[in-house]
Amino acid sequence: MSEQKKEIVLSGIRPTGNLHLGNYFGALRKFVAAQDDYDCNFFVADLHALTTNPDPAQLHTNAKNILAEYLAAGLDPEKSTIFMQSDIPELSEMYLLLNMHVGIGELMRTASFKDKARKALGIGTPADDSDEAFEKEIIGAATNKRVNAGLLTYPTLMAVDILIQKATLVPVGKDQLQHLELTRRFARRFNSFYGVDLLPEPKDFDFGGAPVKVPGLDGSGKMGKSEGNCIYLIDDPKVLRKKVMRAVTDEGPKEPNSPMSEPIANLFSLLELTSTPEVVAQFRDAYADCSIRYGDLKKQIAEDILKVTTPIRERVNDILADDQYIASVLRRGAERARERASKTLAEVREVMGIRPF
Ligand code: TYM
Repeated sequence: MSEQKKEIVLSGIRPTGNLHLGNYFGALRKFVAAQDDYDCNFFVADLHALTTNPDPAQLHTNAKNILAEYLAAGLDPEKSTIFMQSDIPELSEMYLLLNMHVGIGELMRTASFKDKARKALGIGTPADDSDEAFEKEIIGAATNKRVNAGLLTYPTLMAVDILIQKATLVPVGKDQLQHLELTRRFARRFNSFYGVDLLPEPKDFDFGGAPVKVPGLDGSGKMGKSEGNCIYLIDDPKVLRKKVMRAVTDEGPKEPNSPMSEPIANLFSLLELTSTPEVVAQFRDAYADCSIRYGDLKKQIAEDILKVTTPIRERVNDILADDQYIASVLRRGAERARERASKTLAEVREVMGIRPF
C-alpha cells in the first residue's frame, strides 16, 4: 500500500491513572496491531482528563506514565504519530467551532455524561432514569456542587480529535461507541449544513471482531478506575496473582451444563482474552461436567495475564527514566499531528466563512 492510501486510524486514552486490562484489551492492543498497515495516530487525552478536575501534579505524572506505557506496550514512534492532546492548539479552536453545531440536549442524553454528572453531584442513579428526570435532577439539583461545561461538551472534543485528523477507523472499547455515533452525526450535520464533503464519518475498528468490555473481578460490571476493580499493566506479579485469586465466584455448578452466573461468565471472558482456545475449551468442558475447580481457573487466568503484562512492566521504568526520549517522541508527534490538524482547521474556517479580507 502506498503511504497516501493507508486508512487513518486514531485513538486516545485519558491519563486518569495507570493503564488497566480494560484499556489494554479494549484499546491499546489494537493500537499496536494496527501500526504496520495503517496511518496510525495515538495520543494521551490530557484535555479530556481535565473534565474531572484532577490535581495538576497528578495529571502531569499520569500523562507521562500513560505515554511510557504506550511505548512499553509496543507503540513505535517510527511507525505511528504519538502525541499529547494538549500539544495541538488547533483542537481547541475546532472544538469551539464545532460546538456551534452541537445541541445541549443531545449532549445531556449521553450515557457517559449522565454517569459523570451524577458522580460530580454525588447522587446515585434513581429508579426513574428517563432523560426528563435527569434534566430536572441536573438543572435543579439542590446541591452546592457543579457539573462543569467541559463535561457536557466532552463528546464535541472527542469528535474533533477524530475529525481534525480525518480519521476513519477508531479502535475503542464498547463504552465509547456512543461517542463514535455522535461523532458521525456531527460530521454529517456539518457537511450537510455547509453543503460540503469535508469531514469523513469514522467507524469503530476491531480487526473483524466485536468491541470488547473487559469485566471487573468483583462479580459484575466493567473494569474501570472509578469502579476500583482494576488489574494494572504494571501490577507486580504478587499483587496481580492476589487480585485474581480474590475474584468473586459462586458455589460451582451442581448439574451438568448449568448456565453460568455473572461472576463466572466474567472469569471466562478474561480467560478468552488471555488464553489459547484449547485452554478455554478445557475449562468450558470442566464447567459443563461439573469437574471445574475455580482455584485452577483463576491460577490459569493470572499466569496468562502475566504473560501479557510482564514484558510491558519490565520496559516501563527505563522509558520513564529517559525524559529526553519522551520529550523527543512528543515533539515529533506534535509536529506531525499539527500538520494535518492545521490543514483541516483552515478548511473548516473557510467553509464557515472565517476568511481573510
Ligand atoms: P478512556 O480513557 O475512558 O478509556 C480508554 C480506552 O480504554 C477502553 N476501556 C475499556 N475497554 C474494554 N473494557 C473495559 N473495561 C474498558 N475500560 C476502558 C475505552 O473504551 C477506550 O477505548 N473518550 C475516550 C478517550 C478519547 C478518545 C478520543 C478515544 C478522547 N478522544 C478520540 C478515541 C478517539 C476515553 O475516555 O477513554
